[in-house]
This record gives sequence, C-alpha cells and structure tokens, in this order.
Amino acid sequence: MPKKIFSGVQPTGNLHLGNYLGAIKNFVDLNNDDQNECIFCVVDLHAITVKQDKDELRSNIRETAATFIASGIDPSKSIIFNQSKVHAHAEGSWMLSCMAPMGWLNRMTQFKEKAGKDKEKASVGLYIYPILMASDILLYDTTHVPVGEDQKQHLELTRDIAQKFNKDFDCDDFLKSPEPLIKKNFSRIMSLKNGLKKMSKSDLSDLSRINLTDTKDEIINKIKKAKTDSFQIPNEGQNLKDRPEAENLLGIYSSISDQTLDKTLKEFGGKNFSDLKSQLAEVLSSKISPISDEIKKLTNDYEYLDKILAEGATKAEEIAGKKIAEMKKIIGF
Ligand code: AMP
Ligand code: TRP
Repeated sequence: MPKKIFSGVQPTGNLHLGNYLGAIKNFVDLNNDDQNECIFCVVDLHAITVKQDKDELRSNIRETAATFIASGIDPSKSIIFNQSKVHAHAEGSWMLSCMAPMGWLNRMTQFKEKAGKDKEKASVGLYIYPILMASDILLYDTTHVPVGEDQKQHLELTRDIAQKFNKDFDCDDFLKSPEPLIKKNFSRIMSLKNGLKKMSKSDLSDLSRINLTDTKDEIINKIKKAKTDSFQIPNEGQNLKDRPEAENLLGIYSSISDQTLDKTLKEFGGKNFSDLKSQLAEVLSSKISPISDEIKKLTNDYEYLDKILAEGATKAEEIAGKKIAEMKKIIGF
C-alpha cells in the first residue's frame, strides 16, 4: 500500500543526532520508496510558541530545509515547505481547537515539560501546540507519521481529534486517523552528558549533543568527553540495566551503523569504553560530516532553498486548501 507520509521539524536551530536518528533518517528511507507520497514541513508556526529572534528564525527555517536535503531527502520526490506559507494549517488548527476538549490537552506531557514550573507564564500557543500538529497531519489525509518517541502522545491525540470531528459532524471517515511510525529500537537518543535526559536542542551544554553542523573534530571531542561508567562493556543487553550512558552510546553506534544491539555487543563486549568511543567517533564523523558540509553549502544558497520552499508551499496549498474548504462546508460556513 502506498503511504501518505507527513512529518514536521521545528526550525529552532541546533538540529542534532537525536533528530537525525529518531526522525530525519527515517524520512530519507521513506522518501526513497517511490510508492510513498512524502511531505516534510518546517513547522515555523510551532516554533513561535516560545520566543524567537526574528533573524535567527528566518535563518533556521532555511537551515532546517537544508538539513532535510543534505540528509538525503530528494526535493523532486517530496514536498518540502514551511508551515506559515500555507494558511490552511492555522485555520484548521482553530476549527479543531473548537472541538477538542481541554481535558485532552491537560494530559499532554510535553506541555508540562516545556512550560516548566510556571505554567501561568507559558503561551496559549504552547498549550494548543498539539492541535496545530493535528491540523498539519489531518489536512493531507496522512496515513503515516514518522516521528521520535516523544511525539507518540501527540499522535494519539491527533487520532482522537480526527475521530471526534468525524463523529461530531457525522462525516464518516472525513479526517483520516494516521499511524505513527516510531522506530522500535533506539527511538530516544539521550544526552551525552546524562543518559536519563533526552538529547535536546535546548540543553545548555553543547557537549550534550552532536549537532548536524558539527565538524569532524567537534564530533571526536564530544564523543571523547561523553559520560560513561566504570565497568566494562557487557556481552548481553540485559546487563545494560541501570547503565543509561553505556546503553545510549551502544544504541547510537547500532543505530548509525544500521545494526542490532546484539551485533554491537558482540563487537565490543568485554572491551573498554575507549575502544567503543574511538569507533563511534569514526562512524559518526563519516556519516555526519558529509551532511554537515552539505548543510553549510546549501545555507549559502538562499535562492535555491527559497525556491524549493516556495514550490513546496504551492503544492501543499493545493492539497490542504481543498481539505480546508471541505472542512468549512462540513462545519456550516
Ligand atoms: P523537534 O526538533 O522537537 O521539532 O523534533 C523533530 C523530530 O526529532 C521529532 O520527530 C522528534 O520526535 C525527534 N527527536 C527530537 N529529539 C529526539 C531524541 N533525543 N531522540 C529521538 N528523536 C528525537
Ligand atoms: N511536534 C513535533 C516535534 O516537536 C513537530 C511537528 C509539528 C510534527 N507538526 C508535525 C511532527 C506533524 C509530525 C507531524 O517534534
């Protein structure tokens, strides 16, 4: 069955190895299958749920698009665009927010994490962020959404919203419930400094993550400084319990090398972390450095990136515009 793929990444800078292994690498594989129709969106409306600097935002939108292309997404085989160019996303989000109960949103753990202790000061946008995400997905009759593990709850909400809309307006299967595509293994890449914390763009320590724009030397240095423990690498996966840093480094090695954890443990079991680290730095720099070089090349070519984004927006508008028109009719406008 051909799949209709939609996914989004926020243009908030510092795209990292977690984004790549958890999401973007998957986008590339799906895009390589000619049967699939793929849409990859730079979700700039989501980015402004927290304060952004205007010039940085503009440059991050281009850099995110460049990262998609540099990672191997072929713009001639997919639609790449930025969300704010297609009106239907915000419009759809409003309509869906009028039928999504607050109780559902109150359960979203990402809001709780991002809003922190002072919820009263978080923007309303941050609170209804998952509804805009549902709108993104539902406007394109998406069947599959490749995302990292942290987005699973938002996908479940999207399905609930679709079903409630169809029921409230008695319109059968008008909004299609999408399936999440979350990698079974290594779906959460953790910080290099704390194996219990997700690798994240917003971590204050740059040593906690491998950025997709890092040079070879930076990658080698960050892996060298990554936290480990004082035991040897085990031969069996079950012996990684309570050793989050070891598990993370072995997971990253397996994921980037496209091999199972068992195979990695066979390679490194009984060895010291210095062996794993030197191999890992080698593999990572051979895979990430070419992406990094290409991002730098592409971000210097504004015209090319703006053309891709403009063409993508025109194609996206065609699909989403039709859906939103039908949605309005169903509602009674
Ligand atoms: P964001 O940068 O928050 O827009 O995330 C873009 C994509 O990367 C989403 O699909 C996330 O689930 C995924 N992602 C972000 N951080 C990680 C991580 N540490 N491990 C795995 N996937 C991640
Ligand atoms: N919320 C996602 C994230 O933070 C980004 C996103 C926005 C998205 N809209 C989407 C992902 C639609 C998949 C589909 O990572």
